[in-house]
Amino acid sequence: MFLQLTLLLFGFLQVRCPASASNQFGFAGHADARVQSQREKVKEMMKFAWNGYAQHAWEHNELNSVLGAPHNGSIMGQHKIGLSIVDSLDTLYIMGLQEEYNRGYQWVRQNFSLDRVDEYLSVSGLNIHFVGGLLSMYAFTGDALFQSKAEYVVKKLLPAITSMDSGIPQAMVNPKRGVAGPRPGAYEAILSEIGSLHLEFSYITEITGHLQYRNYVHQLRDKLENMLKPRSLYPVYLNPRTAAWGPYKMTMGTMGDIFYEYLLKNWLRSGKANKQSRDLYQTAVGRILVYQLGLSSAGLTYLGELANFHVIRRMEHRTCFAGGLFALGASAYFNDSVLAARHLQVGKELAHTCHESYRRTPTGLGPKSFQFDSTPEEDATATGQASDQKAFRLRPEVVETYFILWRLTQDQKYRDWGWEVVEALERHCRTKFGYSGLENVYLQDGAMDGVQPSYFLAETLKYLYLLFSNDTLLPLDKWVFNTGGHPLPIQYVNKMFRSKQNVPEYHLEFP
Ligand SMILES: *[C@@H]1O[C@H](CO)[C@@H](O)[C@H](O)[C@H]1NC(C)=O
Ligand SMILES: *[C@@H]1O[C@H](CO)[C@@H](O)[C@H](O)[C@H]1NC(C)=O
Ligand SMILES: *[C@@H]1O[C@H](CO)[C@@H](O)[C@H](O)[C@H]1NC(C)=O
Ligand SMILES: *[C@@H]1O[C@H](CO)[C@@H](O)[C@H](O)[C@H]1NC(C)=O
Repeated sequence: MFLQLTLLLFGFLQVRCPASASNQFGFAGHADARVQSQREKVKEMMKFAWNGYAQHAWEHNELNSVLGAPHNGSIMGQHKIGLSIVDSLDTLYIMGLQEEYNRGYQWVRQNFSLDRVDEYLSVSGLNIHFVGGLLSMYAFTGDALFQSKAEYVVKKLLPAITSMDSGIPQAMVNPKRGVAGPRPGAYEAILSEIGSLHLEFSYITEITGHLQYRNYVHQLRDKLENMLKPRSLYPVYLNPRTAAWGPYKMTMGTMGDIFYEYLLKNWLRSGKANKQSRDLYQTAVGRILVYQLGLSSAGLTYLGELANFHVIRRMEHRTCFAGGLFALGASAYFNDSVLAARHLQVGKELAHTCHESYRRTPTGLGPKSFQFDSTPEEDATATGQASDQKAFRLRPEVVETYFILWRLTQDQKYRDWGWEVVEALERHCRTKFGYSGLENVYLQDGAMDGVQPSYFLAETLKYLYLLFSNDTLLPLDKWVFNTGGHPLPIQYVNKMFRSKQNVPEYHLEFP
């Protein structure tokens, strides 16, 4: 018992590494004032982005922030289903933007519906953004409206998960017709998408008592566990009819990311009870460290992609979430302080590399993907990549990693790096109506893409706000963030189901 406790404590210190630098010399007042003004700045950005959307694109999915008009061509289709509203509610709530929140709440109550949506929408997208956003709001407020709306969306997804004998979900669903189908032009299921239901489906079972949702994702996970895998790695393509792997491409970026993320986070959210998730995570990322982790000759750590076991020395902006994931995952190695320290170290090194990808551009914002070992100067840049790889789409992964590492290490540099992003966003991405992505981060005055994605409000701005907030706001030992930035409460082992009144464990009051 004593040994176990010591090990646990050791792991705890390794990972949490508490430092109270900001208070120790009596400068706390100054430090606090600075952090507070940084936090207020991010809040102002959120208010501005939301108001632009609310004025010029209300009910549409996203804003065109250059034209001050709805953005056509969002991942969530052409219908007015308010993606930016549902995605933003928890951020507004956390920031205490009450008026804005109230308008969004009324819209969800009165007008949110998928019943007339006669087009195919992404199952994974509906789950991450709509189900996830609504569930966070349920966890914060206990308002039954959010529970019933979340379950309403989950029911719209059921055709996609019941239509294949293999149990592999289909990619798209038509909410009006209640039918599922593959993504246009691509028959294969994608690893990140089929792994992206687990957190939300488990939580909704806990709050509704309806077991079928959790049973489904458990069966799906058992299935993936039992499949034969090439060198114990997970390819990103899977045939949904036969459940056979497609071409051998492996990545922790697009098409792979959420699968790995939800293995770890499902273990965390289960109160570290679901050992299957943890074991699968440890095996999967253990293999990734063997096959995909590299060190460039100029000394930058990267996570490459595999094509037929050949390493491609390239990372995506999306892959940068892995810095935070490896650091968070260090707690999964509590019996092995060497491994715990290694995973934390990998997380820090990836964060450093991703910071370099931002720092090596004149805009201070990072490209969509970047390479290694072409020449040392070109490490972590998109020089020589196709021009669309030089774009910045207001994505969250880099600040998400800064946020997690800040929480776990209390190293001031992560706040400084986050502030660099805030300043770069203000300088290069702010428009008359909101915020826009950039077509080329290597041009000071390059073209804007005009899109203010809903995830900018749900994730990028939320993580920045939390980076400059007290660690007691959504502490990582009580909340797990879904892949769309929506926090879900950690379930404690002995409280599988909530009381009959469905009173959530963690209310979060309006500040
Ligand atoms: C969006 O696209 C649809 C279909 O192409 C079109 O009917 C609609 O007018 C467009 N909306 C806007 C705001 O451009
Ligand atoms: C809901 O839709 C109705 C009818 O279009 C509209 O009058 C109302 O303002 C909408 N509610 C919100 C909160 O946007
Ligand atoms: C960690 O140690 C505890 C107590 O010795 C044991 O019950 C548990 O199974 C161990 N976990 C792992 C992953 O080895
Ligand atoms: C953080 O919040 C806790 C609890 O509200 C409070 O006791 C503490 O003083 C706060 N710390 C800072 C630095 O504001």
